[in-house]
Amino acid sequence: MEENKLKILIVGGGGREHAVGWKVAQSQRIEKIFFAPGNAGTAEIGENIPVSATDIPALLEFAKREGVGLTLALPDDPLALGIVDEFKRAGLRIFGPTQYAARLESSKAFAKSFMEKYGLPTAKFKIFTDADKAKEHLKSHSLPVVVKVSGLALGKGVFICQTLEEAEDAVERIMVEKQFGESGNEIVIEEFLTGPEISIHAFSDGEHYSLFPAAQDHKRAGEGDTGPNTGGMGTVAPLPFVTSKILKEIEVRIVRPALVGMRVENSSFQGVLYPGLILTEDGPKILEFNARFGDPETQSYMRLLDSDILDIIDACIDGTLDKTEINWKKESACTVVLASGGYPDKYEKGKVISGIEEAEKDERVKVFHAGTIKSGDGKLLTNGGRVLGVSATGANLEDALKTAYDAVGKISFEGMQYRRDIGKKSLLTFNNT
Ligand code: AMP
Ligand code: GLY
Repeated sequence: MEENKLKILIVGGGGREHAVGWKVAQSQRIEKIFFAPGNAGTAEIGENIPVSATDIPALLEFAKREGVGLTLALPDDPLALGIVDEFKRAGLRIFGPTQYAARLESSKAFAKSFMEKYGLPTAKFKIFTDADKAKEHLKSHSLPVVVKVSGLALGKGVFICQTLEEAEDAVERIMVEKQFGESGNEIVIEEFLTGPEISIHAFSDGEHYSLFPAAQDHKRAGEGDTGPNTGGMGTVAPLPFVTSKILKEIEVRIVRPALVGMRVENSSFQGVLYPGLILTEDGPKILEFNARFGDPETQSYMRLLDSDILDIIDACIDGTLDKTEINWKKESACTVVLASGGYPDKYEKGKVISGIEEAEKDERVKVFHAGTIKSGDGKLLTNGGRVLGVSATGANLEDALKTAYDAVGKISFEGMQYRRDIGKKSLLTFNNT
């Protein structure tokens, strides 16, 4: 082993993990990358290990045995389970917020109370642990009204209700029928916000921070933002309509006070803070906090990041982010998610995927894997709802989108579905301002 070269463990197995791994692999300081559990794409740049992202004892055991020098905990659930605390307790180096800090994402009730306490702009809300009281409150609430499961719910615990009956039904399903298990013991009822929805990310070492360019995800399965909510069907960054003035306002009114608040709570936030916002007529308001990189935002972000990601991660862990230069390419990036037919509901796995090599012949294109697996005889097969993220860069967003959709046209698998309007809204919003 060469001096100072690192073994890295990336926890997770989706498109975000492939994208971060791809960027990490470009660092001169890498000896080897492990992914737990990874996918067929990560297997091409490192070694997949058959350990689930939530099996913290097994991950810890593996990291010790293999002499892993740095672990990147990327998905929400291991963070909520306290992977960072466990690794630190064992003297291992890990990137991500502690369990306490990750409550910004893992408990919407905590996050909303935190926002109220520190004067962060968000939708007006009330928290309930009793179904009857929640239903009583709904009777006098304006419509539409939003009912949210407090705990983690795979992005499915949010009900936007147009009528009182729908809202009462949501409370019944969450609190009485317990469709989200224990996550639904507590709910948040809040006002509906209107305006463009955007994703903000910031690296944080607990004290210093650095914002990424703004991004936009497309969460609904269908074109024109119709159909059920998904994990995310595509992203673009930066957003032409988020001016440096708006970004500054977001920094000053949201990111900075949130990080200061977390320090005051003795819970300083190290990692990536990702608030989801709506740009309302009264300014940016927080929909939710995430305590990690977004997926599929990260697939676009990794195409734009010009600095060595390991230098940034080290600075976040060591508290030296203020002394670290972070450069983003002056280009646009986009990612179009290719999903299995039927996703986010029932879908089949095991369909043969073709065309990736052809698509990647254009050097502006990179295809990140999510739900993929190699069969025993070496065929690439679908193995999840979101299968691939086709990313492209360009001098502007229109260019990047054209390149990505040309690449999408070369890839196929039975039942493949994707949105044909990724980025369209960003271009329209821009042209209208
Ligand atoms: P969340 O998991 O809180 O981000 O909610 C999922 C999606 O529901 C968000 O991406 C928004 O599109 C929508 N949403 C959540 N809360 C609100 C709200 N208060 N007003 C309008 N849309 C909302
Ligand atoms: N982009 C959606 C998420 O990561 O939660």
